[in-house]
Amino acid sequence: ANFQPGQFAQFDLSKTALPSPDAVPVPEELRDACSRKILLRRPFSFAEVTPDGDKTFAELLYCVVGPATVRMTTLSAGDRIDVIGPLGRGYRIPEGKKTVLLLGGGMGTPPLQHLAQSLTARDTGINVVSLSGAKTAEALPFEGRLDEISQTLGFSVPEFAKYGIESLIATDDGSAGYHGLVTDCLAEWLEKTDLAFDNIIICACGPEPMLAGVAQIAAEKNIDCQVCMERRMACGIGLCQSCAVECKVAGSNETIYKMCCQDGPVFDA
Ligand SMILES: Cc1cc2nc3c(=O)[nH]c(=O)nc-3n(C[C@H](O)[C@H](O)[C@H](O)COP(=O)(O)OP(=O)(O)OC[C@H]3O[C@@H](n4cnc5c(N)ncnc54)[C@H](O)[C@@H]3O)c2cc1C
Ligand code: FES
Repeated sequence: ANFQPGQFAQFDLSKTALPSPDAVPVPEELRDACSRKILLRRPFSFAEVTPDGDKTFAELLYCVVGPATVRMTTLSAGDRIDVIGPLGRGYRIPEGKKTVLLLGGGMGTPPLQHLAQSLTARDTGINVVSLSGAKTAEALPFEGRLDEISQTLGFSVPEFAKYGIESLIATDDGSAGYHGLVTDCLAEWLEKTDLAFDNIIICACGPEPMLAGVAQIAAEKNIDCQVCMERRMACGIGLCQSCAVECKVAGSNETIYKMCCQDGPVFDA
């Protein structure tokens, strides 16, 4: 399937086995929740998508938070699960943009990694810079140690460096990279750059307060911005209305509700 970065798929994990209690380090407070039965599919976006002949390899990055994600830890090569996708609308980079800033908070990096892959797969001439933030270095959703030498060169995250993309890190406690919020790191980056703002687009994914902060910075500087929203999703195809997002109507004070699964999850900020 042809996945647009930011689109997602609905995974049926109801028939996937639970791990034995000691096999996965599930935090005590999640143990009861993790053993619950699963009725609904769960939405996940992709970090990397690689077509290979009549097959497509898709890489997921997930955090164990409940019954579906704990079951995902028992999947191994050759297992089959039912997946519906691609669903929703992904990031759309308008013609003429010369710089794409990828802004990820917490577990919000998978669709941005996919966007990085897609933007660098062709010779688009677009410059891509990634800024990733988390509370601490340990909470950053990247594998392995952040290389100290490459960090001084600005290529600190292997997941983005492999596409030749400059990446900056921000941690709330200063344990890696910029000491502070990733939105403050963005504001400083924009202060220092001499690029024309109308050639830039910000593509963000992460917790809602972070997305609100990015949207505000983008509005103040008149920079195009798209945000990937998360909602609890039941059907994933626009039928149940469980994923409504309140959106401003351009040029007025009115708001309307859009469906995150069908009109999003990526929205213009
Ligand atoms: C479009 C989209 C893409 C996503 N991509 C990823 C991804 O790439 N990697 C990843 O780890 N997760 C992703 N998620 C989140 C993932 O779908 C949920 O965490 C999922 O519910 C986990 O299932 P579970 O049964 O393990 O836990 P659940 O029992 O379903 O949830 C555990 C806890 O998280 C809360 N929660 C779950 N989903 C949401 C939500 N959307 N908004 C706010 N709170 C929520 C629940 O209230 C509960 O407290 C995505 C969500 C959306 C909407
Ligand atoms: S999840 Fe059912 S309408 Fe969006």
